[in-house]
Amino acid sequence: MQQYQCDILYGAKKLDPEAGFGPRILPVKLPDSTDAVHAGALRERADHALAPAIAQTATYTFADSADLERFQSGNDADLDRQEYGRYGNPTVREVERRVAALDGADDALLFASGMAAVTTTLLALVKAGDHVVLFRDAYRRTRQFVVGTLGRLGVEHTLVEPGSLEGLTAAIRPRTRLAITESPTNPYLRCIDLARFASICRAQRVKSIVDATFATPVNVRPLSHGVDVVIHSATKYLGGHNDVLGGTVAGAAPLISLVRDLRGVLGGVVDPHAAALIGRGMKTLSLRVERQNATALAVASALEGHAAVERVYYPLLASHPDHAVAKAQLRGGGGVVSFVVKGGRAAARRVIDGFRIARIAPSLGGVETLVEQPALMSFHELDDAELAAIGIDAGLIRLAVGVEETADVVGDALGALDAATM
Ligand SMILES: Cc1ncc(COP(=O)(O)O)c(C=O)c1O
Repeated sequence: MQQYQCDILYGAKKLDPEAGFGPRILPVKLPDSTDAVHAGALRERADHALAPAIAQTATYTFADSADLERFQSGNDADLDRQEYGRYGNPTVREVERRVAALDGADDALLFASGMAAVTTTLLALVKAGDHVVLFRDAYRRTRQFVVGTLGRLGVEHTLVEPGSLEGLTAAIRPRTRLAITESPTNPYLRCIDLARFASICRAQRVKSIVDATFATPVNVRPLSHGVDVVIHSATKYLGGHNDVLGGTVAGAAPLISLVRDLRGVLGGVVDPHAAALIGRGMKTLSLRVERQNATALAVASALEGHAAVERVYYPLLASHPDHAVAKAQLRGGGGVVSFVVKGGRAAARRVIDGFRIARIAPSLGGVETLVEQPALMSFHELDDAELAAIGIDAGLIRLAVGVEETADVVGDALGALDAATM
Protein backbone atom coordinates (compact mmCIF):
# COMPACT_ATOMS: atom_id res chain seq x y z
CA MET A 1 0.00 0.00 0.00
CA GLN A 2 1.07 3.56 -0.66
CA GLN A 3 2.78 5.45 2.13
CA TYR A 4 3.40 9.13 2.77
CA GLN A 5 6.86 9.82 1.44
CA CYS A 6 9.33 12.13 3.06
CA ASP A 7 13.04 12.28 3.66
CA ILE A 8 12.43 10.64 7.02
CA LEU A 9 11.28 7.49 5.32
CA TYR A 10 13.64 7.67 2.43
CA GLY A 11 16.63 9.51 3.91
CA ALA A 12 19.98 9.11 2.16
CA LYS A 13 21.64 5.89 3.30
CA LYS A 14 25.09 4.53 2.88
CA LEU A 15 26.48 1.11 3.56
CA ASP A 16 28.74 0.92 6.55
CA PRO A 17 30.52 -2.43 6.56
CA GLU A 18 32.02 -1.66 9.99
CA ALA A 19 28.58 -1.50 11.55
CA GLY A 20 28.10 -5.19 11.05
CA PHE A 21 24.36 -4.67 10.91
CA GLY A 22 23.81 -3.11 7.52
CA PRO A 23 23.06 0.44 6.43
CA ARG A 24 23.39 3.53 8.58
CA ILE A 25 21.17 6.54 8.20
CA LEU A 26 22.80 9.87 7.44
CA PRO A 27 21.53 12.97 9.24
CA VAL A 28 18.23 14.21 7.90
CA LYS A 29 15.89 16.80 9.37
CA LEU A 30 14.15 16.23 12.68
CA PRO A 31 10.52 15.21 12.36
CA ASP A 32 7.88 17.93 12.34
CA SER A 33 4.15 17.81 12.87
CA THR A 34 3.41 16.76 9.29
CA ASP A 35 5.75 13.81 9.77
CA ALA A 36 4.16 12.92 13.11
CA VAL A 37 0.77 12.74 11.40
CA HIS A 38 1.76 11.11 8.11
CA ALA A 39 5.23 9.53 8.04
CA GLY A 40 4.99 5.77 7.82
CA ALA A 41 1.17 5.83 7.87
CA LEU A 42 -0.85 3.97 5.26
CA ARG A 43 -2.74 6.12 2.74
CA GLU A 44 -5.28 3.48 1.68
CA ARG A 45 -7.36 1.33 3.97
CA ALA A 46 -10.27 -1.10 3.82
CA ASP A 47 -13.64 0.67 3.41
CA HIS A 48 -11.82 3.94 2.63
CA ALA A 49 -11.42 4.48 6.35
CA LEU A 50 -9.15 7.35 7.35
CA ALA A 51 -8.20 5.98 10.77
CA PRO A 52 -6.47 2.61 11.23
CA ALA A 53 -8.63 -0.36 12.14
CA ILE A 54 -7.80 -2.24 15.33
CA ALA A 55 -7.07 -5.81 14.25
CA GLN A 56 -8.32 -7.50 17.40
CA THR A 57 -7.21 -11.00 16.55
CA ALA A 58 -4.94 -13.54 18.18
CA THR A 59 -4.43 -15.63 15.07
CA TYR A 60 -4.71 -15.58 11.25
CA THR A 61 -6.23 -18.04 8.80
CA PHE A 62 -5.06 -19.84 5.65
CA ALA A 63 -7.42 -20.74 2.81
CA ASP A 64 -5.95 -24.21 2.36
CA SER A 65 -2.71 -26.13 2.80
CA ALA A 66 -1.26 -24.68 -0.42
CA ASP A 67 -1.89 -21.17 0.93
CA LEU A 68 -0.13 -22.11 4.18
CA GLU A 69 2.76 -23.62 2.24
CA ARG A 70 3.15 -20.46 0.16
CA PHE A 71 3.25 -18.36 3.34
CA GLN A 72 5.83 -20.61 4.97
CA SER A 73 8.07 -20.61 1.92
CA GLY A 74 8.23 -16.81 2.08
CA ASN A 75 6.73 -16.52 -1.42
CA ASP A 76 3.47 -14.93 -0.34
CA ALA A 77 2.67 -11.76 -2.31
CA ASP A 78 1.50 -10.12 0.93
CA LEU A 79 4.78 -9.47 2.74
CA ASP A 80 2.94 -8.18 5.81
CA ARG A 81 0.83 -11.31 6.18
CA GLN A 82 0.84 -12.68 9.71
CA GLU A 83 0.50 -16.15 11.16
CA TYR A 84 -0.04 -15.64 14.89
CA GLY A 85 -0.50 -12.66 17.20
CA ARG A 86 2.79 -13.06 19.08
CA TYR A 87 4.66 -12.68 15.78
CA GLY A 88 2.78 -9.73 14.36
CA ASN A 89 -0.35 -7.64 13.99
CA PRO A 90 -1.24 -5.09 11.28
CA THR A 91 -2.30 -2.39 13.76
CA VAL A 92 0.98 -2.81 15.62
CA ARG A 93 2.97 -2.98 12.38
CA GLU A 94 1.74 0.38 11.15
CA VAL A 95 2.76 2.03 14.41
CA GLU A 96 6.15 0.34 14.09
CA ARG A 97 6.56 1.83 10.61
CA ARG A 98 5.68 5.25 11.94
CA VAL A 99 8.19 4.91 14.79
CA ALA A 100 10.87 3.87 12.28
CA ALA A 101 10.06 6.94 10.19
CA LEU A 102 10.27 9.32 13.16
CA ASP A 103 13.47 7.77 14.49
CA GLY A 104 15.04 7.71 11.00
CA ALA A 105 15.47 3.93 11.18
CA ASP A 106 15.22 1.06 8.73
CA ASP A 107 12.76 -0.65 11.00
CA ALA A 108 11.25 -0.53 14.48
CA LEU A 109 9.37 -2.71 16.94
CA LEU A 110 6.64 -1.96 19.43
CA PHE A 111 6.52 -3.70 22.81
CA ALA A 112 4.12 -3.98 25.74
CA SER A 113 6.23 -1.56 27.81
CA GLY A 114 9.48 0.34 27.73
CA MET A 115 11.05 -2.31 29.92
CA ALA A 116 9.93 -5.08 27.55
CA ALA A 117 11.73 -3.14 24.80
CA VAL A 118 14.89 -2.67 26.89
CA THR A 119 15.11 -6.21 28.22
CA THR A 120 14.33 -7.95 24.92
CA THR A 121 16.87 -5.81 23.04
CA LEU A 122 19.67 -6.37 25.54
CA LEU A 123 18.98 -10.09 25.77
CA ALA A 124 19.02 -10.37 21.98
CA LEU A 125 22.54 -8.93 21.84
CA VAL A 126 24.45 -10.65 24.64
CA LYS A 127 25.49 -14.11 25.74
CA ALA A 128 27.28 -15.51 28.79
CA GLY A 129 30.83 -14.20 29.05
CA ASP A 130 29.98 -10.90 27.31
CA HIS A 131 30.39 -7.52 28.96
CA VAL A 132 28.05 -4.52 28.98
CA VAL A 133 28.76 -0.86 29.77
CA LEU A 134 26.01 1.07 31.50
CA PHE A 135 25.94 4.61 32.84
CA ARG A 136 25.32 4.87 36.57
CA ASP A 137 22.30 7.16 36.16
CA ALA A 138 20.41 4.70 33.94
CA TYR A 139 16.73 4.12 34.68
CA ARG A 140 16.88 1.98 37.80
CA ARG A 141 14.98 -0.98 36.29
CA THR A 142 17.39 -1.04 33.35
CA ARG A 143 20.26 -1.04 35.84
CA GLN A 144 18.56 -3.77 37.87
CA PHE A 145 18.18 -5.86 34.71
CA VAL A 146 21.81 -5.44 33.66
CA VAL A 147 23.31 -5.88 37.11
CA GLY A 148 20.91 -8.52 38.45
CA THR A 149 19.33 -10.49 35.63
CA LEU A 150 22.12 -10.34 33.05
CA GLY A 151 24.63 -10.81 35.87
CA ARG A 152 22.90 -14.05 36.87
CA LEU A 153 23.15 -15.21 33.26
CA GLY A 154 26.93 -14.68 33.22
CA VAL A 155 27.02 -11.27 31.51
CA GLU A 156 29.43 -8.87 33.22
CA HIS A 157 29.00 -5.11 33.39
CA THR A 158 30.80 -1.89 34.24
CA LEU A 159 28.95 1.13 35.63
CA VAL A 160 30.34 4.40 34.30
CA GLU A 161 29.91 7.84 35.88
CA PRO A 162 27.08 9.90 34.33
CA GLY A 163 28.05 11.47 31.04
CA SER A 164 31.68 10.29 31.19
CA LEU A 165 32.95 9.36 27.73
CA GLU A 166 36.41 8.85 29.25
CA GLY A 167 34.81 6.35 31.63
CA LEU A 168 33.16 4.62 28.66
CA THR A 169 36.45 4.37 26.77
CA ALA A 170 38.21 2.96 29.83
CA ALA A 171 35.42 0.46 30.53
CA ILE A 172 35.39 -1.18 27.09
CA ARG A 173 37.04 -4.64 27.05
CA PRO A 174 37.53 -7.21 24.30
CA ARG A 175 34.29 -8.93 25.37
CA THR A 176 32.25 -5.72 25.54
CA ARG A 177 29.22 -6.24 23.36
CA LEU A 178 27.16 -3.14 23.97
CA ALA A 179 27.01 0.20 25.76
CA ILE A 180 23.71 1.73 26.80
CA THR A 181 22.89 5.23 27.97
CA GLU A 182 19.93 7.52 28.28
CA SER A 183 20.05 11.09 27.03
CA PRO A 184 18.76 13.21 28.70
CA THR A 185 18.96 11.11 31.85
CA ASN A 186 16.73 10.97 34.89
CA PRO A 187 16.54 13.03 37.09
CA TYR A 188 19.48 15.38 36.42
CA LEU A 189 18.96 15.46 32.63
CA ARG A 190 22.58 14.75 31.74
CA CYS A 191 23.08 14.86 27.95
CA ILE A 192 25.82 12.83 26.35
CA ASP A 193 27.56 13.79 23.11
CA LEU A 194 25.83 11.17 20.98
CA ALA A 195 28.23 11.35 18.02
CA ARG A 196 31.23 10.79 20.32
CA PHE A 197 29.40 8.05 22.23
CA ALA A 198 28.60 6.31 18.93
CA SER A 199 32.08 6.67 17.47
CA ILE A 200 33.84 5.40 20.61
CA CYS A 201 31.58 2.34 20.53
CA ARG A 202 31.88 1.82 16.78
CA ALA A 203 35.68 1.98 16.88
CA GLN A 204 35.64 -0.96 19.33
CA ARG A 205 32.84 -2.83 17.53
CA VAL A 206 30.54 -2.27 20.48
CA LYS A 207 26.82 -1.74 19.79
CA SER A 208 25.68 1.68 20.99
CA ILE A 209 22.18 1.92 22.45
CA VAL A 210 20.42 5.10 23.51
CA ASP A 211 17.21 5.25 25.51
CA ALA A 212 15.91 8.58 24.23
CA THR A 213 12.61 8.50 26.10
CA PHE A 214 13.20 11.95 27.62
CA ALA A 215 14.11 13.54 24.28
CA THR A 216 11.68 11.93 21.80
CA PRO A 217 12.51 11.93 18.07
CA VAL A 218 11.19 15.50 17.97
CA ASN A 219 14.17 16.76 19.98
CA VAL A 220 16.91 14.40 18.84
CA ARG A 221 17.40 11.38 16.61
CA PRO A 222 20.30 9.36 18.04
CA LEU A 223 20.54 7.19 14.90
CA SER A 224 21.43 10.21 12.84
CA HIS A 225 24.40 10.75 15.18
CA GLY A 226 25.67 7.23 14.40
CA VAL A 227 24.07 5.36 17.32
CA ASP A 228 23.02 1.77 16.48
CA VAL A 229 19.77 1.40 18.43
CA VAL A 230 17.28 3.86 19.88
CA ILE A 231 14.72 2.90 22.51
CA HIS A 232 11.73 4.82 23.86
CA SER A 233 9.31 4.11 26.63
CA ALA A 234 6.20 4.87 24.54
CA THR A 235 4.35 5.16 27.84
CA LYS A 236 5.77 8.66 28.04
CA TYR A 237 5.74 11.14 25.13
CA LEU A 238 4.83 8.85 22.21
CA GLY A 239 1.60 7.69 23.84
CA GLY A 240 1.41 11.08 25.48
CA HIS A 241 -1.82 10.75 27.47
CA ASN A 242 -0.81 8.78 30.59
CA ASP A 243 -3.25 6.05 29.57
CA VAL A 244 -1.19 3.32 27.93
CA LEU A 245 2.10 1.42 28.39
CA GLY A 246 4.41 0.70 25.49
CA GLY A 247 8.01 0.62 24.32
CA THR A 248 9.84 0.94 21.01
CA VAL A 249 13.17 -0.17 19.55
CA ALA A 250 14.50 1.17 16.24
CA GLY A 251 17.63 0.59 14.19
CA ALA A 252 19.07 -1.19 11.18
CA ALA A 253 16.94 -4.01 9.74
CA PRO A 254 19.17 -7.01 10.59
CA LEU A 255 19.49 -5.93 14.20
CA ILE A 256 15.76 -5.29 14.52
CA SER A 257 15.17 -8.71 13.02
CA LEU A 258 17.20 -10.30 15.83
CA VAL A 259 15.17 -8.44 18.44
CA ARG A 260 11.90 -9.33 16.69
CA ASP A 261 12.79 -13.03 16.80
CA LEU A 262 13.40 -12.87 20.54
CA ARG A 263 10.20 -10.86 21.07
CA GLY A 264 8.36 -13.78 19.49
CA VAL A 265 9.96 -16.07 22.10
CA LEU A 266 9.71 -13.86 25.20
CA GLY A 267 6.27 -12.60 24.21
CA GLY A 268 6.39 -8.96 25.34
CA VAL A 269 4.04 -7.95 22.53
CA VAL A 270 1.71 -4.98 22.77
CA ASP A 271 -2.05 -5.44 22.61
CA PRO A 272 -3.55 -4.02 19.36
CA HIS A 273 -5.79 -1.61 21.31
CA ALA A 274 -2.78 -0.26 23.18
CA ALA A 275 -0.91 0.04 19.88
CA ALA A 276 -3.78 2.05 18.41
CA LEU A 277 -3.70 4.40 21.43
CA ILE A 278 0.04 4.87 21.00
CA GLY A 279 -0.42 5.48 17.27
CA ARG A 280 -3.11 8.07 17.98
CA GLY A 281 -0.93 9.76 20.57
CA MET A 282 1.95 9.96 18.11
CA LYS A 283 -0.13 12.08 15.73
CA THR A 284 0.21 15.02 18.15
CA LEU A 285 3.73 14.19 19.33
CA SER A 286 5.37 17.18 17.71
CA LEU A 287 2.68 19.64 18.84
CA ARG A 288 2.83 18.39 22.40
CA VAL A 289 6.62 18.26 22.64
CA GLU A 290 6.95 21.78 21.23
CA ARG A 291 4.63 23.04 24.00
CA GLN A 292 6.38 20.93 26.62
CA ASN A 293 9.80 22.22 25.52
CA ALA A 294 8.61 25.81 25.81
CA THR A 295 6.83 25.35 29.13
CA ALA A 296 9.69 23.46 30.76
CA LEU A 297 12.19 26.12 29.70
CA ALA A 298 9.90 28.84 31.09
CA VAL A 299 9.47 26.95 34.38
CA ALA A 300 13.21 26.28 34.66
CA SER A 301 14.04 29.94 34.06
CA ALA A 302 11.45 31.11 36.59
CA LEU A 303 12.60 28.64 39.25
CA GLU A 304 16.22 29.64 38.83
CA GLY A 305 15.39 33.07 40.20
CA HIS A 306 13.35 31.86 43.19
CA ALA A 307 14.74 32.38 46.69
CA ALA A 308 13.53 28.97 47.92
CA VAL A 309 15.30 27.06 45.15
CA GLU A 310 18.86 25.89 45.65
CA ARG A 311 19.51 24.57 42.15
CA VAL A 312 17.66 23.95 38.89
CA TYR A 313 18.57 21.24 36.36
CA TYR A 314 17.41 21.81 32.80
CA PRO A 315 19.63 21.10 29.77
CA LEU A 316 18.98 24.40 28.05
CA LEU A 317 19.89 26.53 31.09
CA ALA A 318 23.44 27.86 30.91
CA SER A 319 23.95 26.53 34.47
CA HIS A 320 23.47 22.88 33.40
CA PRO A 321 26.71 20.86 33.23
CA ASP A 322 25.87 19.61 29.71
CA HIS A 323 24.49 22.87 28.39
CA ALA A 324 26.91 23.02 25.43
CA VAL A 325 26.15 19.47 24.27
CA ALA A 326 22.42 19.96 24.80
CA LYS A 327 22.39 23.23 22.87
CA ALA A 328 24.21 21.70 19.92
CA GLN A 329 22.29 18.45 19.90
CA LEU A 330 18.72 19.04 21.03
CA ARG A 331 15.92 20.91 19.31
CA GLY A 332 14.38 21.49 22.74
CA GLY A 333 15.24 20.54 26.31
CA GLY A 334 12.20 18.30 26.81
CA GLY A 335 9.39 18.49 29.32
CA VAL A 336 11.18 17.57 32.55
CA VAL A 337 12.63 20.10 34.99
CA SER A 338 14.39 18.95 38.16
CA PHE A 339 15.11 21.29 41.05
CA VAL A 340 16.39 21.15 44.59
CA VAL A 341 14.59 23.25 47.19
CA LYS A 342 16.28 24.70 50.23
CA GLY A 343 15.40 22.82 53.41
CA GLY A 344 15.78 19.24 52.19
CA ARG A 345 13.26 16.42 52.37
CA ALA A 346 10.61 18.17 54.53
CA ALA A 347 10.66 21.39 52.51
CA ALA A 348 10.38 19.52 49.19
CA ARG A 349 7.47 17.55 50.59
CA ARG A 350 5.66 20.79 51.44
CA VAL A 351 6.32 22.07 47.92
CA ILE A 352 4.87 19.03 46.11
CA ASP A 353 1.82 19.29 48.36
CA GLY A 354 1.43 22.93 47.28
CA PHE A 355 0.84 22.26 43.55
CA ARG A 356 -2.74 22.90 42.47
CA ILE A 357 -2.59 21.86 38.78
CA ALA A 358 0.22 19.27 38.75
CA ARG A 359 -0.68 15.87 40.16
CA ILE A 360 1.67 13.83 42.33
CA ALA A 361 2.54 10.76 40.23
CA PRO A 362 5.48 8.98 38.65
CA SER A 363 5.92 9.08 34.85
CA LEU A 364 6.28 11.97 32.42
CA GLY A 365 5.54 13.02 28.88
CA GLY A 366 1.74 13.01 29.04
CA VAL A 367 -0.71 15.87 28.68
CA GLU A 368 -1.07 16.30 32.46
CA THR A 369 1.73 17.97 34.45
CA LEU A 370 3.06 15.54 37.06
CA VAL A 371 5.29 16.24 40.03
CA GLU A 372 7.27 13.91 42.25
CA GLN A 373 9.91 13.92 44.95
CA PRO A 374 12.28 11.02 44.20
CA ALA A 375 13.06 10.66 47.95
CA LEU A 376 9.38 9.83 48.55
CA MET A 377 8.72 7.84 45.40
CA SER A 378 11.40 5.92 43.46
CA PHE A 379 13.79 5.88 46.44
CA HIS A 380 11.35 5.86 49.37
CA GLU A 381 13.22 3.07 51.12
CA LEU A 382 16.44 5.13 51.39
CA ASP A 383 17.33 7.64 54.11
CA ASP A 384 19.05 10.96 53.33
CA ALA A 385 22.57 9.55 53.69
CA GLU A 386 21.79 6.59 51.41
CA LEU A 387 20.20 8.95 48.89
CA ALA A 388 23.29 11.16 48.95
CA ALA A 389 25.46 8.09 48.32
CA ILE A 390 23.66 7.48 45.01
CA GLY A 391 23.70 11.17 44.13
CA ILE A 392 20.04 11.97 44.79
CA ASP A 393 19.29 15.05 46.87
CA ALA A 394 16.51 14.53 49.44
CA GLY A 395 15.17 17.97 48.49
CA LEU A 396 14.97 17.16 44.78
CA ILE A 397 11.68 17.62 42.93
CA ARG A 398 10.99 16.43 39.38
CA LEU A 399 8.36 18.32 37.45
CA ALA A 400 7.20 16.70 34.20
CA VAL A 401 5.21 19.35 32.39
CA GLY A 402 2.10 18.60 30.39
CA VAL A 403 0.39 20.65 27.72
CA GLU A 404 -1.52 23.04 29.96
CA GLU A 405 -0.99 26.77 29.36
CA THR A 406 2.66 27.67 29.98
CA ALA A 407 1.72 30.55 32.28
CA ASP A 408 -0.48 28.25 34.37
CA VAL A 409 2.29 25.66 34.84
CA VAL A 410 4.83 28.34 35.74
CA GLY A 411 2.33 29.92 38.12
CA ASP A 412 1.59 26.54 39.71
CA ALA A 413 5.27 25.89 40.40
CA LEU A 414 5.90 29.37 41.80
CA GLY A 415 2.70 29.19 43.84
CA ALA A 416 3.73 25.83 45.33
CA LEU A 417 7.11 27.26 46.33
CA ASP A 418 5.54 30.37 47.83
CA ALA A 419 2.95 28.34 49.75
CA ALA A 420 5.66 26.07 51.17
CA THR A 421 7.88 28.88 52.34
CA MET A 422 5.27 31.22 53.83
C1 LIG B 1 14.18 6.45 30.58
C2 LIG B 1 13.22 5.32 30.79
N1 LIG B 1 13.39 4.19 30.10
C3 LIG B 1 12.55 3.15 30.24
C4 LIG B 1 11.50 3.19 31.13
C5 LIG B 1 10.59 2.02 31.26
O1 LIG B 1 9.42 2.26 30.56
P1 LIG B 1 8.03 1.57 30.93
O2 LIG B 1 7.57 2.15 32.23
O3 LIG B 1 7.17 1.93 29.76
O4 LIG B 1 8.28 0.10 31.03
C6 LIG B 1 11.27 4.35 31.87
C7 LIG B 1 10.14 4.41 32.81
O5 LIG B 1 10.01 5.27 33.64
C8 LIG B 1 12.17 5.45 31.69
O6 LIG B 1 12.01 6.58 32.39
